[in-house]
Amino acid sequence: MNQKLIAGNWKMNGSLSFNQALVGALRAGLQSPAACRIAVCVPAPYLSQLAELLKGSPIDLGAQDVSSHDAGAYTGEVCAAMLREFGVRYATVGHSERRQYHGETDAVVADKVRLALASGITPIVCVGETLAQRESEQTEAVVKRQLAAVIHANGHCISEIVVAYEPVWAIGTGRTATPAQAQQVHGVLRAQLKAATEQADRMPILYGGSMNAANAAELLGQPDIDGGLIGGASLKAADFLAIIAAAGRLAA
Ligand code: PGA
Repeated sequence: MNQKLIAGNWKMNGSLSFNQALVGALRAGLQSPAACRIAVCVPAPYLSQLAELLKGSPIDLGAQDVSSHDAGAYTGEVCAAMLREFGVRYATVGHSERRQYHGETDAVVADKVRLALASGITPIVCVGETLAQRESEQTEAVVKRQLAAVIHANGHCISEIVVAYEPVWAIGTGRTATPAQAQQVHGVLRAQLKAATEQADRMPILYGGSMNAANAAELLGQPDIDGGLIGGASLKAADFLAIIAAAGRLAA
């Protein structure tokens, strides 16, 4: 079985001192070698600090966004090549908070994925339905449309992405999809990837949305859940370590 991938999404949280304490606690609590792949996706100003703090650890560095342009007059944007210079390995792309608050369309998300891949950064492509969409039985259509745009724009490179299924109604709400609900959507996404690439079985599909120390093992135990994208619980060392440990036990 492939190793699971546990990625923390710090969102707009942290400070120089907080980051140092959190990474220190994670490093102290991690077993060596780690039994799963681990990443933290941090705010852009802290990338250089984190690159230093993570040196020699099993934790990879991630960003939370990447520009849909490769350089030039785009005030405030950060391009993939810049992230790469700081040792960034992953970037979340198309998180629902970016789609919702920053107007990111499927087409913009697809461009961001393309540019991340071109710079050697693995995009963690987030898809997920709102509560209204779930209640009107549009979940499958929505996640398939979001993923189709990325598949269409990325051709044979598609096997290099990570997908994260994050039901919007479960993000930061404490309301988690049941393992069966999550598995059902993961199965749909796996089938869609299979139609696009022969590599689909080894592509990680992460679940995100109120994953925590208590529910991680059951979610991660589903056949098509290959890891987690963790928001709130990634800011607490003990919780994030417990999720990593649960992922490691499943890979053993
Ligand atoms: P949450 O966030 O774990 O706090 O629900 C997950 C995410 O938004 O990636």
